[in-house]
Amino acid sequence: MRTPVIAGNWKLFKTINEATALVKELKSLVAGTSGVEIVVAPVFTALSSVADEIAGSGILLAAQDCFWEEEGAFTGEVSPGMLKDAGCSYVIIGHSERRQYFNETNGTVNKKAKAAIAAGLTAIVCVGETLAERESDKTFTVIESQIMGCLAGLPAESLKQIVVAYEPVWAIGTGKTASEAQAQEVHAFIRELVEKLFGKPHAEAMRILYGGSVKPENVKGLMSQADIDGALVGGASLKADSFAAIVNFMA
Ligand code: PGA
Repeated sequence: MRTPVIAGNWKLFKTINEATALVKELKSLVAGTSGVEIVVAPVFTALSSVADEIAGSGILLAAQDCFWEEEGAFTGEVSPGMLKDAGCSYVIIGHSERRQYFNETNGTVNKKAKAAIAAGLTAIVCVGETLAERESDKTFTVIESQIMGCLAGLPAESLKQIVVAYEPVWAIGTGKTASEAQAQEVHAFIRELVEKLFGKPHAEAMRILYGGSVKPENVKGLMSQADIDGALVGGASLKADSFAAIVNFMA
């Protein structure tokens, strides 16, 4: 049995005060929830304050990116060990916005994933095709090269520190969710790839999240699919009530 993960990616929103207020509200709304890992990913500057606010609540903290070196002359970067120090247990790596605007590649995602694992973090590795790629029937080729590239050279035993997020780029922030069948098809394909690379037990244990316009209204249908083990939520995670409704999808 795979424990579902519902992760809120707050992107470039929320000051420290706003972030702590949001998580405080969220805490009370999910106080009775069990059987789901709840993760929030604020901006770097709000990490420690949010960590203090969620201490003892069961809500887990993620960063939205990291660098692959632990320390050194790398102005502007933040290392996985420093994220751990700030209270993170997760880090999102290779989000499509980072690929699109900040030159993230499968190669840099791979280095970051290895560094995150070495620091004891769980990496949420994001993959997904663009609309042009889907329309030209390249979805599976693109996903295959992303999974191969991002997970290259990882020792099988480190896979428990990897969560994959399938986020079709055309569904992010657009209100256009992939249909349950479209998402399931790609999730099953990702699990097959992981099986080929690392063997069946690892593939079966791996959590694969769907992301792209997840809302309280569509989460249940998505989560009913055999290979969908959770959600990476952007817009709907910025309000405590909508994110809590997604977290409590079983209710
Ligand atoms: P969205 O974003 O839920 O606003 O579509 C998802 C994401 O970018 O992770």
